[in-house]
Amino acid sequence: MKYYEFQDTRLPALGFGTFRLVGETCRRQVLKALEAGYRHIDTARAYDNEEEVGRALSESNVERSEIFLTSKVWMDDLEPKRVLRSAEKSLRHLRTDYLDLYLIHWPSDRFPLDATLDALMQLRSEGKIRQLGVSNFPPAFFLHACEMAPIFTNQVEYHPLLGQDRLLKLARERGILLTAYSPLAQGAVFKEELLVEIGRKYGKSAGQVALRWLLQQDGVATIPRTSSEENLRDNIAVFDFELSGDDVERINLLPKNQRTVTPAFAPDWES
Ligand SMILES: NC(=O)c1ccc[n+]([C@@H]2O[C@H](COP(=O)([O-])OP(=O)(O)OC[C@H]3O[C@@H](n4cnc5c(N)ncnc54)[C@H](OP(=O)(O)O)[C@@H]3O)[C@@H](O)[C@H]2O)c1
Repeated sequence: MKYYEFQDTRLPALGFGTFRLVGETCRRQVLKALEAGYRHIDTARAYDNEEEVGRALSESNVERSEIFLTSKVWMDDLEPKRVLRSAEKSLRHLRTDYLDLYLIHWPSDRFPLDATLDALMQLRSEGKIRQLGVSNFPPAFFLHACEMAPIFTNQVEYHPLLGQDRLLKLARERGILLTAYSPLAQGAVFKEELLVEIGRKYGKSAGQVALRWLLQQDGVATIPRTSSEENLRDNIAVFDFELSGDDVERINLLPKNQRTVTPAFAPDWES
């Protein structure tokens, strides 16, 4: 496993994503992920699975202190009092008294960002969250947030078929981590011939090549999701090989315009 030491916090660079995992599948997969060695779990109020994640955490033999747990506040709850209430619900459902990281899930122009960030800072000073951050914040929103609060990460879609050069540069200049979500492009990387071909050389799948490409980048963490036990073991088996500079360059040259997460409320990504 690769770890980052950022702002006095230790973060496993590879985590387990839980979007679209609900009910028993979610509980089982989080438990299996912990058994397989994952120590970083990503959930959100909006995923409707915090109770199952919480059950898996409490059933697991792994100590809470060894797990990096992230949740997110939904965009309807960005008014400060609602942020606090939403965080309390997350804590209760996740059966924990703190989150390692709490993110604003999507930017919204319906609520002033400074007030929302103040609420997150309050949660931090009360010890209910250790770090705070943002998600889906394009460059201008991200810079604005960085001016107002100690942002730990910006969690955005990033994989070999979608670039994030501007955000990466801004994050690195500020010593902030970029967390790559949908690192497998929700499955599309497995159909990308170049990744399949490169994978053959290393005895790895296209998905493992995609994850390794992200993890070889300084300041990038990532959180693949799977509903299969076999796949979750494959997705963590990416620390026993290294992509050559040439192969990294060939992946860099793939067209980077396949965005898979495109809700109607998404911000202007170029802003
Ligand atoms: N902040 C945000 O707005 C946001 C948005 C999207 C995602 N996220 C986070 O990022 C996480 C990952 O993104 P994602 O869930 O969108 O998609 P993803 O991880 O890019 O891809 C998941 C898809 O890939 C397949 N897959 C996974 N491992 C595989 C393997 N080894 N072999 C073959 N297929 C495999 C899965 O199918 P199987 O289940 O069949 O394995 C699933 O269809 C989410 O779970 C969530 O935690 C955050």
